[in-house]
Parts: sequence; C-alpha cells; structure tokens
Amino acid sequence: MSDPILTLYQGLERLGPGAPEDVAWAAHVADVPPDARICDAGCGTGADIPALMTVAPVGAITAVDDAKLFVDEVLARFGTRVNAYAGDMAKLKGPYDFIWSAGAVYFHGVTKVLRAWRPVLAKGGAVAFSEPCLFTDTPSEATLAFWGGYERLTDAEGIARQVADADYEVLATRRVSDAAWAAYYGPLAERVAALRRNADPVLALALDAAETEIAAWEHVRAETGYLLSVVRPV
Ligand SMILES: C[S@@+](CC[C@H](N)C(=O)[O-])C[C@H]1O[C@@H](n2cnc3c(N)ncnc32)[C@H](O)[C@@H]1O
Repeated sequence: MSDPILTLYQGLERLGPGAPEDVAWAAHVADVPPDARICDAGCGTGADIPALMTVAPVGAITAVDDAKLFVDEVLARFGTRVNAYAGDMAKLKGPYDFIWSAGAVYFHGVTKVLRAWRPVLAKGGAVAFSEPCLFTDTPSEATLAFWGGYERLTDAEGIARQVADADYEVLATRRVSDAAWAAYYGPLAERVAALRRNADPVLALALDAAETEIAAWEHVRAETGYLLSVVRPV
C-alpha cells in the first residue's frame, strides 16, 4: 500500500466490510474448537480479532499483515494476547486449525493462497475467506468499475472453481451483509472528512477515491459484494 492509503486507513478499526456474526458463522461451519490455533491473514488493524477471540477463548491467535503500520496497531490494541507480525500471508508457518482472511486473499488470488496454506493447516483445519463476487449474470459497467478491473472477478460458481483448483471443498458460503459494509464505510467516511481539512494534493486524491467508492457502493450493492466461503482441503 502507498503512503496516502496508509494515512487514510491508519487508526480505523476496520479496513474492509465485516461483522462479528460472519466470524461466528464461519467458525461454527468449520467446527473451530475453543482452543484453536487461528491465523488472521491480512489482519489489517485487527477488525476481526475480538470475534476470533470469542470463538476460541482459550485458543492462540496469530495475526499477519504485510503493512507494519497496521501490525503495530494490532500490537497496541491487543498486546501479548495476539502474536502479530509483518509478513506475507502466502508464507505462513502454522500449524493452524483455522485461517481467517477478510478481504485480503484477492491480493494473491484464491487458488494460489489456498495452495500455499494447505501445508500449514492442521489435520481437519479449515479456511474462511471473503472475496469480491458478482451476484448477477449481467453486471453493469458501474459494478465492474467498482472493483477497478480486478482480473479474477467472478460469481459464486467461479469462486468455487478457484477453490476446487486448489483441491479444497466448499463447506458453505454466504454473502457479507449490507450491515457489514456500513460498519466499514461509516467510519471511513468520517475519517475522509476529518483528513480533508489539511490534506496535501496526494492525500486529497486518495480521499477523492475513497469518497467515490463509498458513493458508488449505493449503486452497485444489489449486483456485487463479498462472498464469504468456508473451505477445507480434500
Ligand atoms: C481490505 S484490507 C482488510 C483488512 C482486515 N482483514 C479487515 O477486514 O479490516 C486488506 C489487508 O490485506 C493486507 N495485505 C495485502 N497483501 C498482503 C499480503 N501479501 N500478505 C499479508 N497481508 C496483505 C493489507 O495490508 C490490508 O491490511
């Protein structure tokens, strides 16, 4: 991520759509035990860590993000309760009973990441990830533009094919709720407004882009969003 993006997102508790209910649902599907070894891959500032701690109250949480600034925020928020480090999510060490990844797998692609995670999953372990998804066969130009030309953008069947290509099976899927998007965009809009007053031209461009995205969401949300998939190696 470039500096203006880091400036924009620094201090936000959520860097993408999500809700504690999503974590609870995925952990239930994956049968995550209370003492699970969990990795939050692409953890950002730790939005989902409290919910992960709830599903595994005597578990061990590792949080990985390639942005050190965000990892520092996780360490400040959760201290020694979380083993947080800066690194590439495709190079995890493990073993893990459950890998959670909200809005981050797309940086590498579903198939590549799932293949990389297979050796670090404990026996019976599972992965839950959210991924951009089309919910219509006839997406509008605005919907395609919303994802900025994401080359692997597809529908639920297409995501399932990417999962199968990595030799995983889909246990269940569900659409990330509008409330989860509001939990992301509400605080982001407030942050944009707060930064606007003293923004230099480079930061102003990033703020413009964020405002455009938030406004566009209202027009495209019937056609697209995130699909949350819970998957396991076959
Ligand atoms: C959209 S944010 C989501 C963050 C968090 N999961 C949340 O929901 O708030 C995506 C995160 O993935 C991180 N990221 C991108 N590529 C990564 C990689 N290769 N390894 C680890 N983290 C990565 C980014 O720094 C960013 O924090």
